Amino acid sequence: MIIMVDEKAIEAAEQQYGRLLRQQLERVERLKHEPDWTDYSKLDKLIIGVCGGDGIGPYICAEAQQVLEFLLADKIKAGKVEIRQIDGLTIERRAAVMKAIPDDTMAQLKQCHVILKGPTTTPKKGDPWPNIESANVAMRKELDLFANIRPVSVPELGINWRFYRENTEGSYAVGSDGINVTDDLAIDYCVATTQGTERILRAGFEYAKKSGGNYVSVITKANIIKTTDGKFLKLAEQVAKDYPGVTWDDWFIDITTAKLLDPVRRGKFRVFVLPNLYGDIITDEAAQIQGGVGTAGSANIGKKYAMFEAIHGSAPRMVSEGRAQYADPCSMIKAVAMMLDHIGETEKAHRLDMALDVCVQFEKKLVMTGRSNGATGDEFAKYVMETVQRPDLAEVWQQYVDIAVQNAAKQ
Ligand code: IPM
Ligand code: MG
Repeated sequence: MIIMVDEKAIEAAEQQYGRLLRQQLERVERLKHEPDWTDYSKLDKLIIGVCGGDGIGPYICAEAQQVLEFLLADKIKAGKVEIRQIDGLTIERRAAVMKAIPDDTMAQLKQCHVILKGPTTTPKKGDPWPNIESANVAMRKELDLFANIRPVSVPELGINWRFYRENTEGSYAVGSDGINVTDDLAIDYCVATTQGTERILRAGFEYAKKSGGNYVSVITKANIIKTTDGKFLKLAEQVAKDYPGVTWDDWFIDITTAKLLDPVRRGKFRVFVLPNLYGDIITDEAAQIQGGVGTAGSANIGKKYAMFEAIHGSAPRMVSEGRAQYADPCSMIKAVAMMLDHIGETEKAHRLDMALDVCVQFEKKLVMTGRSNGATGDEFAKYVMETVQRPDLAEVWQQYVDIAVQNAAKQ
């Protein structure tokens, strides 16, 4: 049999590939001249952008915003903090301009220092929407939010994890620019740069050194994805040398997903550093162990900008079924706590974290079910705000932790 291949298709694909390589190499040059970390304490006024997104986004974002404004009321009044509403991230608007983020919206986002963002619908082939790039992914790339930090804590199971997911590279870097070489052959790309990999590894090791139990697990599939994951692992070995006090190990992603369910092993993990797609997948699993994706917040940190969000999507079905007001705002409130911590309001962040634990895991005076037999998001946000103000909050929270730890010991 004589095999003929479509040479013209190969040529066209080669050209497209060349463009991608050029873009990525230009990006590497930009990464070599990254700005310094923003020092929030030096700003005259901190500008916080709030964009609701779509689906349940505007609902849970507004509920979280109440909590944010309540906790920062003194600074807002003193003109030290400005909260800015940013519209335009709805799927209707994005579809109308055929862009992941409309230009005017992006310009407004760039005027802010930090952003609280509600979930946004991510189209896929076959949806009623054009198959445009995800707004999340576009924002992470455009604002260079390279570290996606996702804490998961379940004291009764002895779990205290913090995931450092690389957020601008891997399979996401050119995820919307793969090539249909012919009708029969589709190719996507995975990207790892020295600069991009090193900075996420350093972020993870740095945290482990300061407050993360001096233990890092680097997760790849370097036995199969030998080039990009291989680079991730090789750079981990190098970065680890700068942290002699931090113990580290490496695991493959498949066995790690299993070990998160292993009652003996899972309590030993502490800080994970991992490429983008593995981080995406495993943090949903981890959040489920904590009580569901509705309970987990996510910080997207770059040197100049930072964005805080839920880890879940926009649940358009809840809106079409008229249940949006029952959507759980806890992931967004958790995102507020992470924002407060990031901008240096550590005490307020800590109180909010404790209040969330007390409301969701311990006292449960209100329960979210996503339906009318549970509380509304607005009621729950108010319950959290009341709890934040309780003078006995620290004691109640300690009780919760003590009981949880006792339960963990019994297992
Ligand atoms: C997440 C989400 C996003 C992602 C989607 C909504 C684009 O799943 O933040 O984990 O894939 O990163
Ligand atoms: Mg995800």
